[in-house]
Amino acid sequence: MKTTGDLGDLRGKRVLVRSDLNVPLDGTTITDDGRIRASAPTIKSLADAGARVIVCAHLGRPKGAPEAKYSLAPVADRLGEVLGTPVVFADDTVGEDAQAKAAALEDGQVLLLENLRFNAGETAKTDEDRAEFAGQLASLADVFVSDGFGVVHRKQASVYDVARLLPHATGDLVSTEVDVLRRLTKDPERPYAVVLGGAKVSDKLGVIGNLLGTADRLLIGGGMVFTFLAAQGHEVGKSLLEADQIDTVKGYLERAEKEGVEIVLPVDVVAADAFSADAAHDIVAADAIPADRMGLDIGPESSRLFAEKLSDCRTVFWNGPMGAFEMEPYAAGTKALAQALVDVTSAGALTVVGGGDSAAAVRQLGFEDSDFGHISTGGGASLEYLEGKELPGLTVLEEDDA
Ligand code: 3PG
Ligand code: MG
Repeated sequence: MKTTGDLGDLRGKRVLVRSDLNVPLDGTTITDDGRIRASAPTIKSLADAGARVIVCAHLGRPKGAPEAKYSLAPVADRLGEVLGTPVVFADDTVGEDAQAKAAALEDGQVLLLENLRFNAGETAKTDEDRAEFAGQLASLADVFVSDGFGVVHRKQASVYDVARLLPHATGDLVSTEVDVLRRLTKDPERPYAVVLGGAKVSDKLGVIGNLLGTADRLLIGGGMVFTFLAAQGHEVGKSLLEADQIDTVKGYLERAEKEGVEIVLPVDVVAADAFSADAAHDIVAADAIPADRMGLDIGPESSRLFAEKLSDCRTVFWNGPMGAFEMEPYAAGTKALAQALVDVTSAGALTVVGGGDSAAAVRQLGFEDSDFGHISTGGGASLEYLEGKELPGLTVLEEDDA
């Protein structure tokens, strides 16, 4: 893959940068600016090199037409603060305003285009349907830098097609992320543990299947754990359950046993009578969840067990919260897990927190990015990488190496 250094002298050149600035918003307030901070160094180094930087990004999943609540305007302001220099904002993506502002850029200035997904061509399914929009994007710039790691698993106009239309390079954020993930997949230092949480096991089936061939231990928490407990024959009460996945999970449990992969499940859970912060809740054994209760967090005994299973690891990847951590009574499991990662990081292990949501969770719980080996900006992207899938945004960059 080419790096920005391979693009030659960038002074006066128009550089289109695809960043992932898909941050959580509460109205127009950014509740976690991690992706903006992670994207800023590439943008800054291009501006410092005298480039006229045109940043493009998406926010949320608008359906191919403008929607005020998905505007990137608040992101432009925050990006300007992080860069320490004002960011010009275009109120369309490839229209008159974008074209005029791109043309008026001076060396070292930064422009952010409005949400890519306000244009149907960005996410269209076929190459033909994305081509026109990709062409319009490409016409704004002389070269392209791919730095949106969180979207490299999407075959979209600004990720994939535009790289085929312009001289291009891999941005520093994507390079860093790929280097770290490569360390997890190519001969990781052992023991290597993967901790998976989050609501749905169906989202993680592919990666679990692949991890049974690489990881030494798989620790499972979050809503998805109840399908595992059910697969072991336990009652899970009103807990989240994907009944149609029980057989698949049973198959995984058998495969894990055969392949010598240790699957670690919680031994106790916090069981509440409703999905609410003020619901009645108690700690119960994981194999004795009352019929009228739902598990909303792993219990303290499980937190101790998980910490112990991580303590001798040399490599740990974590994606997905252990419980409904947004509600204080169910945050302890996720917090304890984050602390266990921090401890094993201090002991010299490579720890990777995968994903926009898991990253936001650890920051919300008061941890610093520097407490961990690496906080990935891409949840879906890092899981698909670990699953061994081809990521369109990376394959298009690798074509140069062939
Ligand atoms: C993310 O938030 O995971 C990335 O920005 C990708 O967004 P998407 O899942 O809507 O494609
Ligand atoms: Mg996502």
